Amino acid sequence: MSWQGIMDFKKRAQFVLVHALFVVCITANYGVCELKANKSATLSVDASSQSGRKIPDTLFGIFFEEINHAGAGGIWAELVSNRGFEAGGQNTPSDFSPWTIIGDETTVSVGTDRTSPFKRNPVALRVQSNCDADACPSTGVGVYNPGYWGMNLENGKGYKLIFHIKSLYSVDISVSLTNSDGSQTLATNNIVASASDVSDWTKVQFEFVPTGSATGGRLQFITRKKGVFWLDQVSLMPMDTYMGHGFRKDLLSMVADLKPRFLRFPGGCYVEGERLWNAFRWTAAVGPWEERPGHFGDVWNYWSDDGLGYFEFLQLAEDLGAAPVWVINNGVSHQDSVNTANIASWVKDALDSIEFARGSSDSTWGSVRASMGHPEPFTLKYMAIGNEDCGKNYYTGNYLKFYSAIKNAYPDMKIITNCNALGTTLDHPADYYDFHTYTTASSMFSQKNVFNSAKRSGPKAFVSEYAVWQSDAGKGSLLASLAEAAFLIGLETNSDVVEMASYAPLFVNDNDRRWNPDAIVFNSSHVYGTPSYWMQQYFRESGGAILNPATIQSDSSSLAASAITWKSSDNLECLKIKIVNFGSDAVNLTISMSGLTNSIDTPNSFTTVLTSSNVMDENSFSNPTKVVPVQTPLTNANSQMHAVIQPHSITSFDMALAQTSYAADM
Ligand code: AHR
Repeated sequence: MSWQGIMDFKKRAQFVLVHALFVVCITANYGVCELKANKSATLSVDASSQSGRKIPDTLFGIFFEEINHAGAGGIWAELVSNRGFEAGGQNTPSDFSPWTIIGDETTVSVGTDRTSPFKRNPVALRVQSNCDADACPSTGVGVYNPGYWGMNLENGKGYKLIFHIKSLYSVDISVSLTNSDGSQTLATNNIVASASDVSDWTKVQFEFVPTGSATGGRLQFITRKKGVFWLDQVSLMPMDTYMGHGFRKDLLSMVADLKPRFLRFPGGCYVEGERLWNAFRWTAAVGPWEERPGHFGDVWNYWSDDGLGYFEFLQLAEDLGAAPVWVINNGVSHQDSVNTANIASWVKDALDSIEFARGSSDSTWGSVRASMGHPEPFTLKYMAIGNEDCGKNYYTGNYLKFYSAIKNAYPDMKIITNCNALGTTLDHPADYYDFHTYTTASSMFSQKNVFNSAKRSGPKAFVSEYAVWQSDAGKGSLLASLAEAAFLIGLETNSDVVEMASYAPLFVNDNDRRWNPDAIVFNSSHVYGTPSYWMQQYFRESGGAILNPATIQSDSSSLAASAITWKSSDNLECLKIKIVNFGSDAVNLTISMSGLTNSIDTPNSFTTVLTSSNVMDENSFSNPTKVVPVQTPLTNANSQMHAVIQPHSITSFDMALAQTSYAADM
């Protein structure tokens, strides 16, 4: 991270002045600290280059699952919910909610039928206005879409509206963006067309620029003219999205700040489905958005229009500079298992997905990718065969079919098995084995040592889901983040056998909490990180860094620590020491560093503490920065430092090391 980056980080964390009790006290030689420490510890760090070991570049990444409306109504910036009217199923009449009727039974009739121009998603909305001019209510009659619990419409920003319309008669329809009850129009456009202009399905598109803001806004279509019109595939997207690729900027900047080295997608249970026919299928989620059928994710129980499809995930990984990790269904859902004898077409589907990502732009699937605007192949090097399916019927047989076909066609592809190889030997080949842990805080803290006893040869571990949950975590407590930080320190230490790790789940739309806790909480207009989100920022420099031996001697068993050296983007050599105090006692810490070849550049050194007055404290929309890292300058940094480590805290000491030539001049 550059120093500019550090300053940005400072701003983002909205630094607050902390009470003297919570300031880490650091002195060069046993100075006076205001916080009394009942425990003491010595941390010895060997910073010499010969004793360090490189941490894998991939160590810390993210796991994105379509859960909690993380994608639809989340990072995917589409504002219209049920844009193709398919959410109620393909048999009509169907439920077209959240679209809502404007008008009453005498003035308007609204329902679905199967007249869509799009073959794979046949349902369209039919709106029949039974009134004309003054006989119509002054508000007009028609429908509105409230988005996902309200659309965030911002004054002066551009929004691209696309919809498909057909009518038997001439039309005069006002299409508007309004506030939540429709009483205030923020932008409007009249669609006036003769019957011949719209007798066939016609695509209409234009840009809206609202003249006011609403966080619970809506999109409405109203008329005061008798007639019938149909609508289908209605999309409203903000023009300003992350890297112009359709992702919500505020949410993606939180993710980018973690500097994830990989992106596991599109989910865990979401990939499996409760039933196979409701599982995510990549072929139904590529190509023009209007032609994607969408699907009902029956594990997390909501509809997705699949605007966020396979292509978009690959694009997102590329935009984040993260390696995509594609989790593919291997014919196993929560309740079904395809017999290995019948699995060949699923294996072919997996090979096709790789061709889509990596094939040349004139290959069958590579050409679909190219038609979507990405002629160059994506870098896809990791595939997980299923999610949490080990032990289920036909898993091993199916896995072996996938493994051999993929390795045969793409020998460099790294394959991840669902079967845990910790403490046991796999009965099948794999490059990585998946390891998931959701547990209490004390158990997570203890699991910092779980890989100490792992075999040092064989497949590497991919800790693709970890989190403290249930009462220790609430909706995201400081306590949870402390235990998780200690666990990650254990992974750094064991990064010769653990190569990848990601927290789960990453996102929750506060209006649809299917899983607690989550790292990033949002609604249509606001976002905040839980302490577990901020905890992950302590680890963003670890991938590719050098792990320096760090040993604690203490009368407290509540500590975990590590040290890394790494190069900032502006080529500064940096040393970062992290220490977690899981206990309720302050600790008088002596840090003793040996092997430093360069002196510490004190003005460019600082300490960062994540803590709070109550270990169960959480952030919230009303207090989003209650538990965030607080950064202060590290004065008098020295190879022998003393600090009082606060109870229930994560502390890092970030030290820039002076350039060798500079040191030599001294
Ligand atoms: O992260 C939430 C769920 O937990 C995932 O879908 C699944 O893999 C695990 O059981």
